[in-house]
Amino acid sequence: MTAASLFDQYTIGNFWFRYLHILAGITWIGLLYYFNFVQVPGLAAYGDEGKARNITVTQIATRALWWFRWASIATLATGLLIVGVLPDYMQDFMNHAGSDPANAKNAVISVGMIMGILMAANVWMIIWKNQKVVIANAANVLAGGEANPDAATCGRKALLASRMNTVFSVPMLFYMVGSAHLYSEAFEATTANAYTFLFISLAIIALFELNAIGIFGGIKAGNKMLWPYESHKNAIISSVVLWVVFFVLSIVFMG
Ligand code: HEM
Repeated sequence: MTAASLFDQYTIGNFWFRYLHILAGITWIGLLYYFNFVQVPGLAAYGDEGKARNITVTQIATRALWWFRWASIATLATGLLIVGVLPDYMQDFMNHAGSDPANAKNAVISVGMIMGILMAANVWMIIWKNQKVVIANAANVLAGGEANPDAATCGRKALLASRMNTVFSVPMLFYMVGSAHLYSEAFEATTANAYTFLFISLAIIALFELNAIGIFGGIKAGNKMLWPYESHKNAIISSVVLWVVFFVLSIVFMG
C-alpha cells in the first residue's frame, strides 16, 4: 500500500466519501429520531403552551435544528459525491444484458437516493421553513409579545414532514446498505423488471409524500389519511410496513 493509493480517485469515492457520508447520515437521522421519539412527545408531556415549552424551543430545538439541517446537506453532498467520484459507479444504468445483479443494485440505490433527496428537501423546504415561524413565535412570546396565530399550523406542517421522513428512514437505509451488500449478490433482474420495480416504488413514495403535505384532505388532525403520521408510534409501524412492501416487491421483481 502506498500513500498515493490511500487518496486515489477510487479510494476517495469508495472509502473516504462513504465514511463521511455515514458520519453525516447518523448525525442527521439520529437528530430526526431525537425530534420524533424524544422532543415532540416530551414537549407534549409538558402539558401546556407555556414558558417551559418556549424556552425548550428557543434553547434546545434551535441548536438541534442547526445540526439537523446541515447534516442533511452533508449527507446529500457526500452521497452524490460517491456517485460522482467513483468511475463507472452506475455504468450502463440498468441496461445489463439478461438478468443481472447490477440491475438490482442500481434499482435499489436509485430508490434509496430518491428517498434521501426527498427527505433532505422535506428538511429544508417544509420542516425548517415552518420551524423558523415556530421559533420566532416562541422567542417573541418569551419577550412578552403577542402569540402568532399561524405558529400552530406551521408546527403541524413541520411535524407531518418530520414523521414522513421517519417513515422513509427504515427502507431508505435498507437500500443504502443493501445495494452493495445484498442486492448486488443475492438478487438479479432484467432491465425491464428493474425499471418496473423502480417505477412502482417511486409511485408509492410519491403517494406517501403528497399525503403528508395534505393533498388528500388537508393537514387538520382527524383526517384519516394522515394516520401514518399522527403519532411517532404510527410512524414506526408505517415505516416497517413500507419496508416489508418494498422488500416483497424487490423479491417479486428481482429475487
Ligand atoms: C440524502 C441523500 C442520499 C444519497 C444521495 C445517498 C447516496 C448513497 C450512495 C451512492 C451510497 C453508496 C451505495 C453503495 O455502497 O454502492 C450510499 C451508501 C450508504 N448510505 Fe447513503 N445516501 C443518502 C442518504 C443517506 C442517509 C440519510 C443515510 C443515513 C444514515 C445514509 C447512509 C448510508 C449508508 C450506511 C450507506 C452504506 C455504505 C456501505 O454499506 O458501504 N445515506 N448512499
